[in-house]
Amino acid sequence: MKKALITGITGQDGSYLAEFLLEKGYDVHGVIRRSSVDYRERIAHLEGHPHFHLHYGDLSDSMSILSVVSTVRPDEIYNLAAQSHVQVSFDVPEFTADVDATGVLRVLEAVRLSGLKDTCRIYQASTSELYGKVEEVPQNENTPFHPYSPYAVAKQYGFWIVKEYREAYNMFCCSGILFNHESERRGETFVTRKITLAAARIAQGKQDKLYLGNLSSLRDWGYARDYVECMWLILQNDKPEDFVIATGEQHSVREFCQLAFHDVGIELEFVGEGMNEKGIDKATGKTVIEVSPDFYRPTDVVNLWGDPSKAKRELGWNPTKTTFEQLVKIMVDHDMKKVAVERAEEHIKTNLAEYLEKGVIK
Ligand code: NAP
Ligand code: GDD
Repeated sequence: MKKALITGITGQDGSYLAEFLLEKGYDVHGVIRRSSVDYRERIAHLEGHPHFHLHYGDLSDSMSILSVVSTVRPDEIYNLAAQSHVQVSFDVPEFTADVDATGVLRVLEAVRLSGLKDTCRIYQASTSELYGKVEEVPQNENTPFHPYSPYAVAKQYGFWIVKEYREAYNMFCCSGILFNHESERRGETFVTRKITLAAARIAQGKQDKLYLGNLSSLRDWGYARDYVECMWLILQNDKPEDFVIATGEQHSVREFCQLAFHDVGIELEFVGEGMNEKGIDKATGKTVIEVSPDFYRPTDVVNLWGDPSKAKRELGWNPTKTTFEQLVKIMVDHDMKKVAVERAEEHIKTNLAEYLEKGVIK
């Protein structure tokens, strides 16, 4: 039985990857951080599985990483842990560098010091943010990098240190240059999830308006559940190589809004420009989307579009298993149910005394 170690297992990708590897018959180990509240929502359903194990560790703490790696002695490591929010990286640049840059080095060194350099394969979660202020459209493995945020600069170090260890020590370590991938498990402050949750709340009368930043920003959005398969395929390849993982399709934040609101039954019309642009509900004339300077970044990446030809050709990966329309629908359907459950819970709480009195709830 192969052993895999996943850092960032509590995150969006970590949770899907853990499910994927368990289905493949792996013994799955994950690194988690101690927290004062329970944050294991995405992996709660896996706890208790005989081949699912959790270890405390932190990417900013070399000893904890060395200890986990040398105890587990994995065949494969998926280094997904990161401060992954680009806008937040402007607020916590040093922490972002420590985890997203030096953290990668700590994983590589832990493998070397544990004597696993010839047996353990390492996947590094790299990113399309490396292309940043893009120098070519669409972007492929040969497109020059131009990182454009503290997050991207830190991830660039991660990319190069992986390449360095591959060449210097002949280690099987690779970067997946993944373009944005979303899901019903996406963190709620990333733009897609923020939109699908707000659309669901507005449709169910729980929110009046959604405030967003740059509506013209362009992204290549895929489905996270499809992308974790690629992480695994990269480590099953004959040679250690880096791959662009993307759908090859590009959409704007505005288009994402239009589709998500359509899926909850609201047809949007955008009027105005720049900071004065508004999204209006055509049926009621109400403004449901406004632009706020709070969600603008000091430097923003606005034109990401990936070319997944190499992954298609060499890994046999299908980049459009889930279409853009299907992805938005999956997220909206999930959030419509989530909001409906929240409303039901609120209703019960408000009327609890009456229900107890009438014996509706015992
Ligand atoms: P995510 O949902 O934000 O998950 C990040 C994970 O990293 C969480 O499990 C988090 O743990 C963990 N983490 C953060 N700091 C840590 C530390 N100091 N030590 C140990 N663990 C730490 O991110 P994601 O969307 O799944 O992305 C996974 C990886 O892919 C990240 O490296 C991200 O930068 C990269 N990436 C993502 C995308 C995308 O579109 N999703 C695209 C390209 C690259 P807690 O739960 O304790 O916070
Ligand atoms: N978060 C957010 N919130 N973004 C907004 C908003 C808003 O209210 N309004 C507009 N945007 C724009 C951002 O300016 C950005 O251009 C785009 O929407 C996408 O933002 P995010 O969803 O926050 O994702 P990201 O592209 O910055 O970063 C994600 O993808 C990277 C891969 O390209 C993260 O998952 C990174 O970890 C990942 O590396």
